[in-house]
Amino acid sequence: MWTLGICGTFTSQEEEVSNPMMGEWGFHDAAAALLHDGRIVAAVEEERLNRIKHCNFFPDRAIAYCLREAGISLSAVDRIAVPMTETDADVALGQEFQGRLTSGRRIVTDAFAARFGLDVSDQLHFCKHHLAHLWTAFVPSGFDRALVVSLDGAGFDGAGGFESVLAGVGGAGGLELLVSHDDAKSLGFFYQRTIGFLGYTRFDEYKVMGLAPYGDPEVYRSLFRDLYELRPGGDYGIAGWSDFVARLAAAGLLDAARRKGAPFTQLHMDFAAALQESLETIAFHLLSHLRTLSGEPNLCLAGGVAHNCTLNGKLLYSGMFDELYVQPVAHDAGLALGAAYDAHFRAPGPVARPPLETLFLGPPLAEDGLERELDRWRELIDVERRPEIEAETARLLAQGSVVGWVQGRSEFGPRALGNRSILADPRPAENKGRINQMVKKREAYRPFAPSVLEESLHAFFDVPASARRFPFMIFVLRVRESMRLRLGAITHVDGTARVQTVSREDNRRYWELIREFGALTGVPMLLNTSFNNHAEPIVDSVDDAVVCFLTTDITHLVVGDYLVRKREVDLAAVATDRLAISLLPHQKLVARQPTRGGEEPRYAIESTAGRYFARGAAISASMFRVLTRATGPDTLAGHCRALGIAVDPPLTAELLRLWQERSVTLRPVG
Ligand SMILES: [Fe+2]
Repeated sequence: MWTLGICGTFTSQEEEVSNPMMGEWGFHDAAAALLHDGRIVAAVEEERLNRIKHCNFFPDRAIAYCLREAGISLSAVDRIAVPMTETDADVALGQEFQGRLTSGRRIVTDAFAARFGLDVSDQLHFCKHHLAHLWTAFVPSGFDRALVVSLDGAGFDGAGGFESVLAGVGGAGGLELLVSHDDAKSLGFFYQRTIGFLGYTRFDEYKVMGLAPYGDPEVYRSLFRDLYELRPGGDYGIAGWSDFVARLAAAGLLDAARRKGAPFTQLHMDFAAALQESLETIAFHLLSHLRTLSGEPNLCLAGGVAHNCTLNGKLLYSGMFDELYVQPVAHDAGLALGAAYDAHFRAPGPVARPPLETLFLGPPLAEDGLERELDRWRELIDVERRPEIEAETARLLAQGSVVGWVQGRSEFGPRALGNRSILADPRPAENKGRINQMVKKREAYRPFAPSVLEESLHAFFDVPASARRFPFMIFVLRVRESMRLRLGAITHVDGTARVQTVSREDNRRYWELIREFGALTGVPMLLNTSFNNHAEPIVDSVDDAVVCFLTTDITHLVVGDYLVRKREVDLAAVATDRLAISLLPHQKLVARQPTRGGEEPRYAIESTAGRYFARGAAISASMFRVLTRATGPDTLAGHCRALGIAVDPPLTAELLRLWQERSVTLRPVG
């Protein structure tokens, strides 16, 4: 039995969309997941393949990959699951879809017919948003019974309205629902709108979680106490947007709001601390009631709020539950998996619920042909096959190298777990600022996570004695006090770290690498951060990895058995003369004529879809002319020759800047 789950909207990235729900950010984090008899075979977020962070387009690349990985065609799939009910689909998609009235089912069917030439109307299965989240938490947990909770921004509630919390009890008979809250009680939205004060927006929530430990929650505790109310029976209320603004104004704080890109002050850090504390207080209030109501000693958690690893760690230490399982793909990409689970596990007949053993579910590196793929970049890199790549990489890391590490299948979800990772020595405190600056080009306060050998967990981290595995980097744990100074690069200001344990069974090569590093240094642990820069999703393909390597200060790249070094060449010159320039399919060129005399026309690269997914950039008139004709595989220099434009240093510098920002794509010619 093959079950395909998908998440996303049903428009293509090339289309200009007219439905505001779909065209902006609704149905973000598009993905596909494929089950065979309830066991997950393949799963990937669309962003990894189309290179658009958090994109909400129809996940046609993700679907095609899942089918390819399984070696089947869409006609072999028994059920196709969508994470919304048919009523929700009618409300969200059906009304005036691109100017015509039609049903949600019709739109889903048409989307598959257009891409795959198949009528899938009889295979469609619809599942409520939060039910899908609950399935992702319960099925892989391995628990026979558990309290299962989804804490979220909001999802359709099955009847065209919105829901932000859904809780139930999972057992042999499936899920029995207990409690539901609408979007007025959304913990996700509470966090999301409040971080606007900190100059952050949607998808930035995890950054605030990292900022909070620098602040003192006491400073704004009373202000936040006025923004929520804890009520009997696990109930609570959250102030609306206008109340929030009024409270800020009354506290004289409106002018203190941080503008995007501006420095953080202690005030901002204290504000973040109070926000994080408020989230934890409300979540504990709700979960403690649900613990009593259900009588269940084990908890499964999903929904976007379950990515708050600090909250998860505090739940673990609180002892409120005997055991805790947090779905590592807790955000909406996980809905693809959850909807598929719903289709499979709600079917009549006996079912075994296989635990989720690995997140290495994405596209693999080519078994052969790796060298050929790397060879295409020979003008810029030296490539050598090394027989003992783990030992050699461990030596480089111990000597201070920052290594891009690409192996096997990519990870499903937002965490790099050792197959698409940037690695470094976890000991020197300066590595934190160094990597934030040299690779991520992001705020210096942002912490980095450690990967530690599973067998060494207790030597470095203060965790309950029974805890053995944290394979998905979704709990913030306490670094042992005696180890904090020694682990300067991964110990956060409050003495914690977002830990990943690595076992030989989880990932043999990564385990070997960490073990080798431990043999050299006495610390069987590495700093592990996702392999990407600030402007792109985590790298997936070899080309993605090489581009990130070339456009950051990462010192070495390892792909499979190959060690890659940068050649001593002028990157800008080679990029100009030897790499073909193009735009991604969702990008368009825009020329704006001046509205007043004396002004120059303005040129830009923009997105055809919602601005939330754009890598837009202002460009020069010359670059505009080049990109207008960059539909064939030619270099900047080639286009300039054809257009009679001089290739001057400003144009070359502009090319590099646009490449670093992933606003243009550069690939070897041929
Ligand atoms: Fe959700």
